[in-house]
Amino acid sequence: MSTQEKIEKMLKKSEVILAAGGEKRIAKQHESGKMTARERIAALLDEGSFVELDRFVRHRCTNFGQEKKELPGEGVTTGYGTIDGRLVYVFAQDFTVEGGSLGEMHAAKIVKVQKLALKMGAPLVGLNDSGGARIQEAIDALAGYGKIFFENTIASGVIPQISAIMGPSAGGAVYSPALTDFIYMVKNTSKMFITGPAVVKSVTGEEVTQEQLGGAMTHNSVSGVAHFAAEDDEDCLKQIRYLLSFLPSNNMEGAPIVETGDDPQRTEESLNTLLPDNSNQSYDMYDVIKAIVDNGEYYENQKYWAKNIITCFARMDGQTVGIIANQPKVMAGCLDINASDKSSRFIRFCDAFNIPLLNLVDVPGFLPGTNQEYGGIIRHGAKMLYAYSEATVPKVTLVTRKAYGGSYLAMCSQDLGADQVIAWPTAEIAVMGPAGAANIIFKKDPDVEQKTKEYIDTFATPYIAAMRGMVDIVIQPKDSRPVIINALQMLESKRETRPAKRHGNIPL
Ligand code: HXC
Repeated sequence: MSTQEKIEKMLKKSEVILAAGGEKRIAKQHESGKMTARERIAALLDEGSFVELDRFVRHRCTNFGQEKKELPGEGVTTGYGTIDGRLVYVFAQDFTVEGGSLGEMHAAKIVKVQKLALKMGAPLVGLNDSGGARIQEAIDALAGYGKIFFENTIASGVIPQISAIMGPSAGGAVYSPALTDFIYMVKNTSKMFITGPAVVKSVTGEEVTQEQLGGAMTHNSVSGVAHFAAEDDEDCLKQIRYLLSFLPSNNMEGAPIVETGDDPQRTEESLNTLLPDNSNQSYDMYDVIKAIVDNGEYYENQKYWAKNIITCFARMDGQTVGIIANQPKVMAGCLDINASDKSSRFIRFCDAFNIPLLNLVDVPGFLPGTNQEYGGIIRHGAKMLYAYSEATVPKVTLVTRKAYGGSYLAMCSQDLGADQVIAWPTAEIAVMGPAGAANIIFKKDPDVEQKTKEYIDTFATPYIAAMRGMVDIVIQPKDSRPVIINALQMLESKRETRPAKRHGNIPL
């Protein structure tokens, strides 16, 4: 065979693989509102940057006539490219090829990019669209999942791992995404569940649709499994690019510094009048966030779940920060089981990837009740104490108003390692809610009302804490941005170590 003939043979082989599952199945994919695997990769990465690996990998299954099937690309496209010029590894399951099902060699392609991403210290983005384990390959498929889960775990905390669910993700297939840092779900087309509606009905008798059981908004607003919701594939891929702009490529780097053009000395008069005079009335913590971060821009994690706490990425003088903020507008900003889980995981992600933490505190306490106690609020709330204590990145805490009892510790008081605690004059830093406290100690006093007022005026302030050095700086609200930026700059050289250990034992 001449060289030219060999080249033509290679091109022909490629052509078959690029045609994926064929025109009909591609048309079906488009009709259902989904892009193909290759279209998704092209939209995710910088134009023309994709380098495909393992195009010619083929399955070795001989069960049920599989040996006669070609399965182009083994139902998954893998490789690397760039996002904003930075190296990223990617895999995209191809639903047009045997439903994107995962067999031995499909898994091997994914494992290869997982290992490369780890070795190179680059993020891995997985675009999932699959009917799960390729039934014909039986336990070879199962072993493939096992290898992927193992690599996910080894890479955790070393490189950012991002999963997008862009079609079905059923059975054990849900666990690779669940082991990664962030899960995106596309509205209407994505579904995640351990067992589908038919199995649910046969086991529990419940009737439920796929969407109700595991649709994008179910996992974004009810279960907390997903972190972001997207309108469609394009929106999802655009959001992933945006998320990566806030993150370093690995745990040895800092996040990229971005020239945002916002003056670090900018003060914000509106903050001086944001809080209602009555501290039992609510205000919107998003107004504080928007006022202090660069250009009012932030990207919110788990926006639809546990809304009593806000977690988001933003920039301050161009540097990425992770913000954890109580939201007085929802459940008065109380901490509950879901808020604890949401914030602890976010804190640990930021700490793993050198992202400073900014804690905005207005917290009246942990939510009382049998629901919470039976659900294990003690165990879940402890995660916040653990995550903040464990974190060695710069930690800045701003107390806007209530900071009561254990819930204040759980929002990173000085004792939990906050490097700088800043308070507004409206801060109320106390061992418990002052009205309740006064009611206990002055219960039998005939002058209980006057005594309670005195107690509140004395103790519902930042000054008792400030007298003991538990608050470093008391500021006018309008000065929050420059003061926080100054603190973050001061903390740039922070070095803090923990005793050597195999690993800690966070309450789970
Ligand atoms: C082999 C599969 C497959 C699978 C789909 N296909 N899933 N082939 N193994 N798991 C094939 C179909 O036979 C079909 O082939 C093509 O992919 C498209 O599938 P359709 O059913 O026509 O598509 P659609 O109607 O859109 O339905 C998609 C679906 C359904 C909801 C995902 O295919 C489905 O329910 N699949 C099985 C899901 C499942 O039970 N998976 C669990 C596997 S066990 P043709 O040739 O007709 O185009 C598991 C355990 C893993 O995952 C444990 C890991 C720890």
